Amino acid sequence: MLKYLLFVFLFTQVSCQEKRPNFVVILTDDQDDVLGGMDPMKNVRRFIGNEGTTFTNSYVTSPICCPSRASLLTGLHVHNHMTWNNSLHGGCYGRTWRKLEARTFAKALRDSGYNTFYAGKYLNEYGTPSAGGPEQVPPGWSEWHGLVGNSVYYNYTISNNGVPTYSTDLYLTDIIRDLSLSYIENQTEAQPFLMLLAPPAPHQPFTPAPRHQGAFSNVSAPRHPNFNLAVTDKHWLITMPPSPLPDSMLPELDRVYRSRWESLLAVDELVADVVEALDSSALLPDTYLIYTSDNGYHIGQFSQVYDKRQPYETDIKVPLLIRGPTIPKNATDNQPILNIDLAPTIMTLAGLNAPQSMDGRSIKFNVKDDLDRKTHRIEIVGNEETERNMLVEYYGEGRDGTVDENCPWKYDSDNLAQCYPQYNCKCQDARNNTYACLRHIAKRINMKYCSFADSTDFIEMYDLSRDPYELTNVINQVLPSVKHWYKLILSQMLTCKGFRNCDNPLENPKVYG
Ligand SMILES: *[C@@H]1O[C@H](CO)[C@@H](O)[C@H](O)[C@H]1NC(C)=O
Ligand SMILES: *[C@@H]1O[C@H](CO)[C@@H](O)[C@H](O)[C@H]1NC(C)=O
Ligand SMILES: *[C@@H]1O[C@H](CO)[C@@H](O)[C@H](O)[C@H]1NC(C)=O
Ligand SMILES: *[C@@H]1O[C@H](CO)[C@@H](O)[C@H](O)[C@H]1NC(C)=O
Ligand SMILES: *[C@@H]1O[C@H](CO)[C@@H](O)[C@H](O)[C@H]1NC(C)=O
Ligand SMILES: *[C@@H]1O[C@H](CO)[C@@H](O)[C@H](O)[C@H]1NC(C)=O
Repeated sequence: MLKYLLFVFLFTQVSCQEKRPNFVVILTDDQDDVLGGMDPMKNVRRFIGNEGTTFTNSYVTSPICCPSRASLLTGLHVHNHMTWNNSLHGGCYGRTWRKLEARTFAKALRDSGYNTFYAGKYLNEYGTPSAGGPEQVPPGWSEWHGLVGNSVYYNYTISNNGVPTYSTDLYLTDIIRDLSLSYIENQTEAQPFLMLLAPPAPHQPFTPAPRHQGAFSNVSAPRHPNFNLAVTDKHWLITMPPSPLPDSMLPELDRVYRSRWESLLAVDELVADVVEALDSSALLPDTYLIYTSDNGYHIGQFSQVYDKRQPYETDIKVPLLIRGPTIPKNATDNQPILNIDLAPTIMTLAGLNAPQSMDGRSIKFNVKDDLDRKTHRIEIVGNEETERNMLVEYYGEGRDGTVDENCPWKYDSDNLAQCYPQYNCKCQDARNNTYACLRHIAKRINMKYCSFADSTDFIEMYDLSRDPYELTNVINQVLPSVKHWYKLILSQMLTCKGFRNCDNPLENPKVYG
C-alpha cells in the first residue's frame, strides 16, 4: 500500500511538470483604459476577453514607461528597483538594473526549463552605446529581439540575439508578429515557453500601418467632463497657463486620438495571428495570454495636452485581460491589481514559488459559482479581503533643451520639461511633479490620496465613487483623522520591501516603534 501511494505521488509530480503552461504576454506602450483605449481591439476582446477575464481595476506602479516596465519584469516597486525615470542616469538600464535583471520572472522561468522569447521595446535605454550596446542579451531570454531605444515604428535597430539589425521601412509591429509566428511554429509540447511581445503602439508618433491609415477618420477624443477643464485645485504644473487650451489646439488632440487607435489595429491583428498560430499548433489550451500596457495616457484632461506622467486615472489605469487554462471565461473581475502582481502570478502559474522579496502579490483567480461561469458573464464583486492600498510613484523630470526658447518659461528651464510652441507652451513635466499616491480600493471605498514633493507639500484627494472624473480635490473636506491615516500608510508604503510588508504596511514595526 505504501509503495502504491509513493508511486502515485511520484507520478503526479512528473505529470505536473510535463503540463507546465505556456505564457504569452502582450505589453503595449501608453495604451489607456479610461479613454476607450481598448475599443479598437476587437480581436483582443474576442480572443482574450471573451475567452478569459477582463480586470477592471488594474494599475501601474508608475505612469511612465521605463519605471513601469522594470516593475512588471521584477515585481518590485519603483523605490526598490530604483529605475526612477527614462534616462540612463535615472536608472533606466543603468548599473543597478543590470544586477536586478538576473531576478526577473523571465530568468526564473528560464532557469526552471522554459524556452523564453522577447520581441519589441524593452527598457527605453536598452542597446544604446552608453548602456552597453545592442550586443548585450539580457539574462533570461533564450530568443532575443529587443528594440534598441524607445518606441518607433520605422527606422530602428533590433538586437537579434545580440546581432544589431537596422531596418528602415518594415513596420515594427508587423516584424514582432512575424518573429512571434516563426517562434510559435518552432515550439512543441515537450518544453514550455514564455513569450513577451512589446509592440510600440500606441506610443508617439502614433504611426499606423499604411493599411490602417484613415480607419478611424470619423473618431474624436472623448469630451468627458474633465476635458479641457480649467482647474485651480490641482498641483502647480496642471494649473500653468494656457488653461483652458485654445480651441485651435483641439483638432490636434483629435488627430492624436484617432492615430493612436489606428496604430493599435496592427497590434489587434498580431494578437489574432498569435492565437491562430497557437491553435493550429495545438498549444492554445495550455497557454496563458496576458494583455496589458505599461501606462495609460491623457488627451486634454484638465487642459493638459497629451502625455502620461500624471496621477489621474487616465494615466495610471491600464487594460488587463487574461486567458488561460484556469481562468474564468467571459468574466470581469474588479479586484485591485498592480503591474508588480504579474511576475509573482506568472511564477505561481508556472509552478514556481514567487520570492517573498517581490513586492507584488499573486492574482487570485477564484470564482464563486463554478456553474455560472459556463452560462453567464459573471461579475466578481470585491469583498473586504480584496481591500488594497496600491502605491503609485512618480519622479518628475526637468530636462534642459526641451523647454523651447520661444516659450515664456525659460527662467526656470532646468526644472521644467517638454514645453513646446506646438502645444501652446503647455509644459508636460517639472521636477516638482514628483508625487506618491495611494489608490485605495475596497468594497465600499474608491479613493485616491496623492502627496507632492513641491514647495507647498500639495495634496490631492479624490473620492472616485462619487467623482470618477476627479473634478474635485476633497482634501479640505475630509476629517483630519482620515488625512492622517492616509499620510501614515503612504509613508510606510514608500519604504516597503517585499510582499508581506508592502501588502500590510501597518504591520511594519516602525509605526509603533
Ligand atoms: C462570450 O461572450 C460572447 C458574447 O457574448 C460570445 O459570443 C462567446 O461565445 C462567449 N464565449 C464563451 C467562451 O462563453
Ligand atoms: C527613415 O529614414 C529614411 C532615410 O533616412 C527617411 O527617408 C525616412 O523618411 C524615414 N522614415 C520615417 C518614418 O521616419
Ligand atoms: C525557428 O526555427 C527555424 C529553423 O530552425 C529558424 O530559422 C528560425 O529562426 C526559428 N525562429 C525563431 C523566431 O526562433
Ligand atoms: C465611424 O465609421 C465606421 C465605419 O464607417 C462606423 O462603423 C462607426 O460607427 C463610425 N463611428 C463614429 C463615431 O461615427
Ligand atoms: C532622472 O533621475 C535621476 C536620478 O534621480 C536625476 O538625476 C535626473 O535628473 C533625472 N532625469 C531627468 C531628465 O529629470
Ligand atoms: C515648481 O517648479 C517651478 C519651476 O521651477 C516653480 O516655478 C514653482 O514655483 C514650483 N512650485 C511649487 C509649488 O513647488
